[in-house]
Amino acid sequence: MGTRRLPKAGTLEIAPSILSADFANLASEIAQMTAEDIQIVHLDVMDGHFVPNITFGPPVVKWIRKYTDAVLDTHLMITDPKKYAPEFIKAGSDHITFHIETVENPTDFIKELRDQGVTVGVTLNPETPVETIEKAASLCDMVLVMTVRPGFGGQSFIDKAAQKCRRLREIVGSDIRIEVDGGIDSGTIATVRDYGADTFVAGNAIFGKQNRHEALSQLQAALR
Ligand code: DX5
Ligand code: ZN
Repeated sequence: MGTRRLPKAGTLEIAPSILSADFANLASEIAQMTAEDIQIVHLDVMDGHFVPNITFGPPVVKWIRKYTDAVLDTHLMITDPKKYAPEFIKAGSDHITFHIETVENPTDFIKELRDQGVTVGVTLNPETPVETIEKAASLCDMVLVMTVRPGFGGQSFIDKAAQKCRRLREIVGSDIRIEVDGGIDSGTIATVRDYGADTFVAGNAIFGKQNRHEALSQLQAALR
């Protein structure tokens, strides 16, 4: 549990979100990503309460863990992350991101998660002001900026939400990763890089395409 570490801040990383993958063939979907030198796999956990959709829980993470050495970046879109995070960590999650809206004392929770051996992230919905994570962000390893309303893959990128990366970069400096999530494709990835992001979640732009190698190449080319 929690033994793999995020790449050191400073490198640009694409983090495929399996939300748009073939859930009946997850092992091979993920193997295709790691064959392309992907270091981080993004796992979207939804509970039908915090967001209007349901995905998967710790048993699925446990099986994914057996098939990959990538960093399992676990994005908890759930009402009660305090209750369930330990189960995801036991199952093999390496990095846990929780929504600032769901925890009363983020500073304490970040420490609790660290003590369980994982790296930590906080995130905020597109309409939540960046000030709400100002204090917590500096205590994280990677901060997540939602660039769509959480709940579904394949939505349109919200530029105004992405612009929060600029302020966040000033707050956290260069040692903490900034990840963006939602509507990232070859048309938006360079924009968010210019705003200060270095970690790019992409679901539909990768798993929505037949040829995943080509999909990843297009994203990488757009970053060059
Ligand atoms: C949305 C999820 C995202 C989603 C992104 O609630 O947090 O990780 O998979 O999907 P795309 O890249 O399709 O916008
Ligand atoms: Zn996500």
